[in-house]
Amino acid sequence: MTDMTDTTEATGRDAASRLARISLEKIIELQDPSGAYLASPTFSAYKGYAWFRDGAFTADAVSSAGEVASPNRFFDWCARAILDRAAHIEEIIAAAEAGRPLPDAEMLPARFRLDGSTGDDDWWDFQLDGYGTWLWAVVAHTERHGVDAARWGTAIDLTARYLLSSWQRPCFDWWEESTEQVHVSTLGCIAAGLGRVAESGALEVEVGSRARAATNEIRALITTSGLAEGGLAKWLGSSATDASLLALIAPLELIEATSAIGLSTIARVARDLSFEGGVHRYLLDSFYGGGQWPLLSCMLGLAYNAAGDRDSALAFLAWAVGTEGPSGSLPEQVPNHLLAPEVRDSWLEKWGPVANPLVWSHAMFLKLSIELGVFPLGSDA
Ligand code: BGC
Repeated sequence: MTDMTDTTEATGRDAASRLARISLEKIIELQDPSGAYLASPTFSAYKGYAWFRDGAFTADAVSSAGEVASPNRFFDWCARAILDRAAHIEEIIAAAEAGRPLPDAEMLPARFRLDGSTGDDDWWDFQLDGYGTWLWAVVAHTERHGVDAARWGTAIDLTARYLLSSWQRPCFDWWEESTEQVHVSTLGCIAAGLGRVAESGALEVEVGSRARAATNEIRALITTSGLAEGGLAKWLGSSATDASLLALIAPLELIEATSAIGLSTIARVARDLSFEGGVHRYLLDSFYGGGQWPLLSCMLGLAYNAAGDRDSALAFLAWAVGTEGPSGSLPEQVPNHLLAPEVRDSWLEKWGPVANPLVWSHAMFLKLSIELGVFPLGSDA
């Protein structure tokens, strides 16, 4: 007789594996000829745009799935976006070093058109995290596949020096909000990028040692002023948590999952932001009514898995499978449990239905499936 639990588990694994395969295919199919991973092909506010943040996590997942060409093309696109702005970046660095930092509006953008240019409508553009995340992802990719980082050397150097000049500044966070704060997840993305690139030898010696020093300084700042209840806090001095902080545990590996800070961060996000497997961004979120984000459930799964709790990780993966829409598409968020239901309609009127598919959701689903050995099937750890 077949054990029911085994059968249910195997069915769940098959469903997840199938969705991970669809995710990989979708990401590659939707990659623009320019190399950009567009955020969402249909959603009104994202259509025609790409972010370093979404794209770097997407490239990392695709690279982890064994693909080399697609991430290479994305990193080429990032490098072009940086090199096109080289003179401007040097100006930003010189102004910061002279003690006269340029205003936020003159810093690098977060959202790019697919040809690498900056959009001309207003956006919450000054965000630093994506620049750290692309550094982290490009180095991880070169090390994983033995690709020569020299291909992106000049852009890596410019990005590292941009971050070194400006990492202390308040800016918009992952959610493009609260520009007056210094966000712990932003700091973590910067430290993960600078730290990884400093160790890789891709930087010239002097820049490398500055990058190493800044990484240590950021770590010290986070672990003194960036904690609440022993876990990572939403911003320096805040007592709230935020699901973006999970990325610092996994996949960025800046904070050890089993450390006291890692475990407290996971526990707080699980307690405050997870409801029946669906993870909210933060408690006061009202974007589309503040629903649950599959990509964040996958990040919580990654953190649990890194802490050795594979069963919890599998449960979050299973929850994400449940958000699958027509033809295997994964949305940005689902409205099953809303934090601010009263404002959902106003967002629907403003921007139309929620982004679906959201490429980044597919990427985090793929990454967790790979980490759990669910994809490719038969690679069970
Ligand atoms: C999110 C960003 C994301 C962008 C594109 C925004 O709504 O807040 O984190 O980069 O969508 O997916």
